[in-house]
Amino acid sequence: MTTIDAPQLPLSTDQPPGIERIECADNLEFMAGLDNESVQLIVTSLPYNLGKPYEAKSSLDSYLEDQTAVIAECVRLLAPTGSLCWQVGNFVDNGEIVPLDAVLFPIFRSHGLQMRNRIVWHFGHGLHSSKRLSGRYETINWWTKGPDYTWHLDPIRVPSKYPNKRHFRGPKAGQLSGNPLGKNPSDVWEIPNVKNNHIEKTIHPCQFPVELVERLVLSMTDPDDLVFDPYAGVGSTLIAARKHGRGALGCDIDADYVAIALERLAQLAAGELRTRPMGKPIYDPSKPNGGHG
Ligand SMILES: C[S@@+](CC[C@H](N)C(=O)[O-])C[C@H]1O[C@@H](n2cnc3c(N)ncnc32)[C@H](O)[C@@H]1O
Repeated sequence: MTTIDAPQLPLSTDQPPGIERIECADNLEFMAGLDNESVQLIVTSLPYNLGKPYEAKSSLDSYLEDQTAVIAECVRLLAPTGSLCWQVGNFVDNGEIVPLDAVLFPIFRSHGLQMRNRIVWHFGHGLHSSKRLSGRYETINWWTKGPDYTWHLDPIRVPSKYPNKRHFRGPKAGQLSGNPLGKNPSDVWEIPNVKNNHIEKTIHPCQFPVELVERLVLSMTDPDDLVFDPYAGVGSTLIAARKHGRGALGCDIDADYVAIALERLAQLAAGELRTRPMGKPIYDPSKPNGGHG
């Protein structure tokens, strides 16, 4: 196992100190060194067994066997009030698709985890398929260890469609009918994926956007809680965690990705990392300046 120790990063004044550690390691080896129930949130986007540069394609059965071992370790690490978010798409073999959330579902349930949402992450760009419809969504499968889980809706509310709508009749007539902080963002999230023109793009072929993880961090953890990504890539989960004063842990088997993650974390600490802001409207070419004001 190659280990790259995270340097003592300078912290900006608005970021309280906390654990920040990413290593170049196989996730099962890395997790073996972590304590039971020590992590509040696990967020990850795993290899889909598609033969991408960072994975060796194997049979679906052998892939699921590997996932069974990784999930068992994650469940061991998860705090009783914790959440586990597995972000997945499809395994594709000779044009036949296997939705990974469908085949992974029984594994999570076998540990007694309870599913809270299957969030549809919708994005506008990707490959154009010729023999089936082009894929434009993946899912984030949100599981908790039990019924008493940490959950904060207010930090992730989005603007209401009609913020000034008032009760029409009854004892509350004239009062605002919606929450002044905005509405629940629902279980369909439209967030741009990280393609070449995205400000977060690195050499990683499949990084997810930081804003996607920020919503999970803000709603499922409290400040100083620990967030872990077992397939950390270039550190997007750790960045979302540190941006909001949470501890961050991660590992990836590729040393180049880990080096980039460390560089991005250092940029974040220095206030120099550019990430797409949460809540920024989707670029709309029909509007002046794409609708970005
Ligand atoms: C889909 S990518 C994750 C990208 C990440 N979400 C980001 O935004 O950078 C999956 C990652 O899993 C890593 N990986 C594959 N097998 C692994 C293993 N056994 N242990 C740790 N990392 C692994 C790959 O190197 C790859 O970077």
